Amino acid sequence: MKELVAVNGQVMKPEDAKISVFDRGFLFGDAVYEVTRSYGKVFFQFEAHIDRLFRSAEWLKLDLGKTADRIIQEIYSIYKEIGEPNYYMRLQVTRGEGPIGMDPSLAGKPNYVLYFKPFEVPPKEYYTEGVDIAVTERLRNSKRSLDPNIKSGNYLNNVLAFIEGKEFRPYESVMMNSEGFITEGCTSNIQIVQGDTIVMTPDEFDILRGITRSLVEEVANTSGIQIQKRGFTAQELFDADEVFITSSTREIMPVKSANGKKTGKRSTVVRALQEGYKKKIEEYSRWAESHHPWN
Ligand code: PDD
Repeated sequence: MKELVAVNGQVMKPEDAKISVFDRGFLFGDAVYEVTRSYGKVFFQFEAHIDRLFRSAEWLKLDLGKTADRIIQEIYSIYKEIGEPNYYMRLQVTRGEGPIGMDPSLAGKPNYVLYFKPFEVPPKEYYTEGVDIAVTERLRNSKRSLDPNIKSGNYLNNVLAFIEGKEFRPYESVMMNSEGFITEGCTSNIQIVQGDTIVMTPDEFDILRGITRSLVEEVANTSGIQIQKRGFTAQELFDADEVFITSSTREIMPVKSANGKKTGKRSTVVRALQEGYKKKIEEYSRWAESHHPWN
């Protein structure tokens, strides 16, 4: 199994990959990124990830200099050479290098950094028993400062939340908003279940609207599971029947404790969602096998 990096299309060992100290991604976090994983030959929800990359870049007025099709093709041409299934893939595009200064027009062309590594499947009990989280006092960036929908190279807000949660040795730490509602995890979305209803943070909250979270909505809709979009508090999370996090790399993972207190009395809805999600992967893989450029 190979781990490798491609810098502007040049494939190399991770330890040989270098980027300039004048790169704005390094200097200011002036960059956008996406993370996805493959199931077999196919990167799941690839188009949605590339779409989001373009949206993030547009908000930052960062010209990616390539079309979505070209990016997808380039990634698959490298992945095809790896020739083994189930990879983690991170694509980061920085605004490029230039003299130090805020003005984005100081930058040259964007730098593309692709990182592939064999996907490390989380332990099975994370999906059955659940994981531990910390609910921190840290506020998620407000939309008016740095919209969390911009998947930017600046994750300091999330790093701070992770540091703050550390006393609970959590798998994930979650952040709040100024009204006392929970927003999202450092690298995941979080939902609770009350009775048979999923309570999900409203789209307009300060969150990244995750691709996995959208799939949860689709699965719920087709499985007759109700979704209520509203803010929920830490207390509601502690008292919920089920709590779960979602992300492209974790899929749908139940939460078994928050700040050291046991959460979730059962896992009926989470199980149904996990089943539905598996079907989505199968459906997508069938579609992508006939649509993607490596075919
Ligand atoms: N993180 N919220 C944040 C802040 C995230 O960074 C992520 C993803 C999510 C979930 O989004 P999605 O379902 O589209 O993966 C929510 C990725 C996995 C990462 O940074 O590794």
